[in-house]
Parts: sequence; structure tokens; C-alpha cells
Amino acid sequence: MPFLKEDKRTHYATELSECDIGKKVTVNGWCARQRDLGSLIFIDLRDRSGIIQIAFDENTDRDVFGVASDVRSEYVLTVTGTVRSRGADVNKSRATGAIEIYAEKIKILCTAETTPFEINDDVNVRGDLRMQFRYLDLRRPSVTENIITRSKITSLALDYYAKNGFLYIETPCLIRPTPEGARDYLVPSRIANGKFYALPQSPQLYKQLLMYAGFDRYVQLARCFRDEDLRADRQPEFTQLDLEMSFMDEDDIMTVNEEFVAKLFHEMLGVEIKTPLPRMTWREAMERFGSDKPDLRFGFELVNLTDILKDCAFRVFAGAISGGGSVRAINVKGGAKFSRKEIDSLTEFAKSYRAKGVAWLKSSGGERSSSYAKFLTDEENAKIEEAVGFEDGDLVLIVADRNSVVFDTLGALRRECARRLGLLDPHEFKMLWVTEFPLFELDEETGAYKPMHHPFTAPMEEDLPLLDTDTGAVRSRAYDIVINGTEIGGGSIRISTPEMQTLMFSKLGIGKEEANAKFGFLMEALKYGIPPHGGMAFGLDRLVAEIVGTEDIRDVIAFPKAQNASELMSKAPSDPDPKALLELGLKLDVKEEDK
Ligand code: AMO
Repeated sequence: MPFLKEDKRTHYATELSECDIGKKVTVNGWCARQRDLGSLIFIDLRDRSGIIQIAFDENTDRDVFGVASDVRSEYVLTVTGTVRSRGADVNKSRATGAIEIYAEKIKILCTAETTPFEINDDVNVRGDLRMQFRYLDLRRPSVTENIITRSKITSLALDYYAKNGFLYIETPCLIRPTPEGARDYLVPSRIANGKFYALPQSPQLYKQLLMYAGFDRYVQLARCFRDEDLRADRQPEFTQLDLEMSFMDEDDIMTVNEEFVAKLFHEMLGVEIKTPLPRMTWREAMERFGSDKPDLRFGFELVNLTDILKDCAFRVFAGAISGGGSVRAINVKGGAKFSRKEIDSLTEFAKSYRAKGVAWLKSSGGERSSSYAKFLTDEENAKIEEAVGFEDGDLVLIVADRNSVVFDTLGALRRECARRLGLLDPHEFKMLWVTEFPLFELDEETGAYKPMHHPFTAPMEEDLPLLDTDTGAVRSRAYDIVINGTEIGGGSIRISTPEMQTLMFSKLGIGKEEANAKFGFLMEALKYGIPPHGGMAFGLDRLVAEIVGTEDIRDVIAFPKAQNASELMSKAPSDPDPKALLELGLKLDVKEEDK
């Protein structure tokens, strides 16, 4: 049926309320459900705002009633009628539950086949099916709601930064590689056969160049592309709320951005965030929480047992210490209720963080058990108990290994135990800045230093003398913003002289020639008057996920990629057109087993 002017909606479904009773209205949308009770028909009409009930009865025009009886799920409808009260028959779970539209006119604009799954929040649908039919999944009210929330957040963000003097400037997507630590997506050039563009891992260099150009404050919703292993909080293609500022130091940058986060949480959730946010150095975060993105909603802080155990007879502990590592513990208050089986599963969990094992001690109803106590002296055992504040009901978990493994494992165990004990309150938001990150970290594969953030991050002035003597100890002017254990953003003050940039590259094993080949334009630009500058990028997907309360960022991305980086709906990536390959000067050499 054609869609005429008089068929156009006067209201979205949930714009209607008891204030509209008696009004003649038109709504447009999909049939979420049709119930035919013989002399009565009810249709739940869904649009992007939600659902409203449409009623037809014995007094309804027979032709209209006839059309209503033909309606099936997902038919597209326009309905005109009068808003009326549902009386005592109120549906409390629905915003429009007190009213309905008593239909005078209905038109089926389009019929629909039976959908592969019910479009309903109560139905548990397989993930791959949801992705294959994402346009149907997006009709489910909770998914629609997430995408609408995301849109509100981006509007609010752009408004906030515009009001604070930021200019919205777009940067290119076909570029030379930007080193952000992941693998690049490459795009072959047709015009220059054999050469490739990279898709940006972030607009890092371009936003710095915008500062060199004098724009002073820049913001952009930037698509970023990183070919890395996916996790619940990682997509190969994601969005940053990216910004950069000149003539600023880290305090100014943190202030402007934490005020944004506070405003966002106030407006979206009615949650008051006290600013300034707490700050914690990277070193303190690692020592206390085993993580550079600590979740501060619960305790279980790390305790260093190295001094107590350095001379002990237990090889597992003593060996880790003599090998330059450490022995640390967490005391999981209330964890004694975990059974042996559960403790075993925690050990398995720990192994995925490269730990060889987990030693434990627990006391339940005054009864103690332990995997390690028999290997230590009474004095050593007593000292451990004192150090961790051991009491009845506690479970102590100990990891002995290289420091990086100890921190990673205990940091993850801390959160896993909190999860199992139901301590991760989704309505509580604990935010902080983590500062003074090391400038470099050791690449475990090559044994060489690599930048912990990116190679344009400025070192802390007072650590410059250590650059040659104790490179790993040099701290950077980088900062991350963390909410409930998730890194939602990060940035730094940038290097702004050619000398420092050259020194930085040389520390990373990038010689002058390579630096000129890869970053010649940057090195050249650095000669022409560079303002002090810095910035940061929020992971927009992660920020939205925190606000809607999901751990999986796919829930807040309209068309996300699956675990293997494919798009199940359109089936990308796909085989290239042979003609296109020819034009690009490319020949494929793909092994059968890799297909
Ligand atoms: P960084 O690499 O820390 O910094 O990225 C900034 C923020 O982006 C989010 N993020 C991701 N979100 C989803 N999927 C991914 N694969 C992914 N990778 C990162 C995180 C992270 O905090 N150019 C710098 C920023 C700067 O220095 O200004 C950068 O990209 O929330």
C-alpha cells in the first residue's frame, strides 16, 4: 500500500501518555505482536522509541478489523486512532502501559516473512544469528536503546567540546602507518602499484600536525583500525573521541576531559562524579592492584611477601625471588566459601595469565587448609598471615613468578574473585587517572624496548638523565582514564622538538634514516615552531558500554565484527574481483589451509 501524507506519524509510540487521552493520533512502525481474541484484536506496535498497544473491537469498522486480523509479526503499519485509557488493565513494564490507541484506520505498508528469531528482548538468540541478521537484532528494544544512547552521547560530547573551543576537523583514512602498537590494515594503491596505504590506528600524527598548524583545540569522532586479536572490549574497527590541545599541560587536559565525563554521567545516568578525579601513579596502581587499570570498587589489594619469603625452603617461592621476580598475595575476604573445585578453576584461570600455579590458604569456620603452609616454617606462615590480615572466612591467593606475570595474574584474579563474589556493582562508578607510565616497555618477543604508548609521548623532564643509564625507569607524561577496571581513554603530552623526537627514535632502535623514511614529514614539521601540546582519545565504544552497562562493546556498535574480525551479515572480508587484483598489480599466494 502506498504511504500517503495522511499516513505520517504524529507521534512516536512512547511520546504518547495519559495527557494525550482523547487525542487523534497516527503512529508508524512494526507489529511486535498481534493477539486475535475473536471479537477483540490487540496489536503491539513498535517504533524506535518503544511499544504501544493498538486495540480493535466489535465496534471497529469491519474492514479495519479485517486488516487487523491479517497483520502478522514484523508487518509495517500505519495506524490512526484515538488515545484512550487502559483502565485497570495497566502494563507496568511498559512506558505506555496505561494507554492504548483505539484504531480507526490501519494500513499494511509492507508484509514480512517469519523472521529467523523473535524480535523480543526476552528471547535468547545465538550470537552469530544476531550478527547475520543484525538489522533484525537492531529492532530489539534493548539493542535499539543502546544505539540511541550512543547517539545521545556523541551529540553531548560534540556539544561539550564545541562549547569549550574545540574545532571539529576530519583527518584522512588513507595514510602512512601510525605506530600505535597493533598491526595495520593495508590498502593497495591502483595508481602506484606495489605501494600501500595504511588505515589509521588513530589520527595521532595528524592531530599533532593540526596543533603545529595553529588550530589550538581539535576534536573528532575518529574511526580507528587495528588488526589485533579481538576481545569483548576490542574491535578491529572502533571509534575514538579524539582530541588535542596546545599551550596546555597535563592538568589542563585532564580537567577539561574529566569535566566532560562528569557531565556525561550526570546527564545520561543522573550519577554525580566528584571532580577532580583521583590520580594514581602507574607504579602505585601496579603495586596495589596488579593492573594499570585498577577497579576500585572493592579491596583485595596486593601484598608483597618477597621480603618474608626470600630465604624460605619452598623452591617455588624462593626460586621466583632469586630469579629476580617476586611473591605477592591477595586476601579475598569472604573467599573461603570457594570450594576446592572453585579454587582449582581459579588456578586454571590464572594459567591463562601465564602463571604456573596459585598457592592458597583459607580458613572456614575455624578450619584451615592450605596448598603451601607445610613447606614453610611456622614463623614464615605467621608472617604471611599478619602481612595479609588473615581472618576466618578469608582466602589468600599467592603467585610467585616474574613481576609482570605476578601483577597480571593477581590483578586478574582480584577482579575474577570479586566477580564471583558479586562485588562488581554495575551502578557504582569508580574513576581515576593513572599517570606516570613508563616511557618504554620491553617487547617480550624481541627483547628490545618499545614505547608503552606511542613514540611521540614526552618523557618526564626529571627522568631525562636516566635515558641512557636506566632506560626502563624513565617515566612519561602519559595518562589513562579508567572506569571500574576499564581503560576508557588515554593520552599524553607530546614531544615538541626535533632533538627529543630523534633521541626517542634512537632509543627505540629507529635510526635517522628509518625515521626520515617513515616520519620525515613529522621531523621536517618539527623545525618550524611547535607549540607545547598534548591530548587524548576516549574509546567511544567502551565509554558507551560503561554507560549502558555492558561488558561487550559489540552491544553498542550498530554493525560490529565477529570474533574472527568478519562481518557475518555481508560476509566481509570476501574474495576480490580478479580484475581488481590485476589493476592493483597483486597476485594472491594463499595456501589452501589458510582459506
Ligand atoms: P590508545 O591506543 O590508548 O591511544 O587508544 C585510546 C582508547 O581507545 C580505546 N581502544 C579501543 N577500543 C575498542 N577496540 C580497540 N581495538 C581499541 N583500542 C583502543 C581504549 C583506549 O583507551 N593516539 C592515542 C591517543 C592519544 O595519545 O591521544 C591512542 O590511540 O579505550
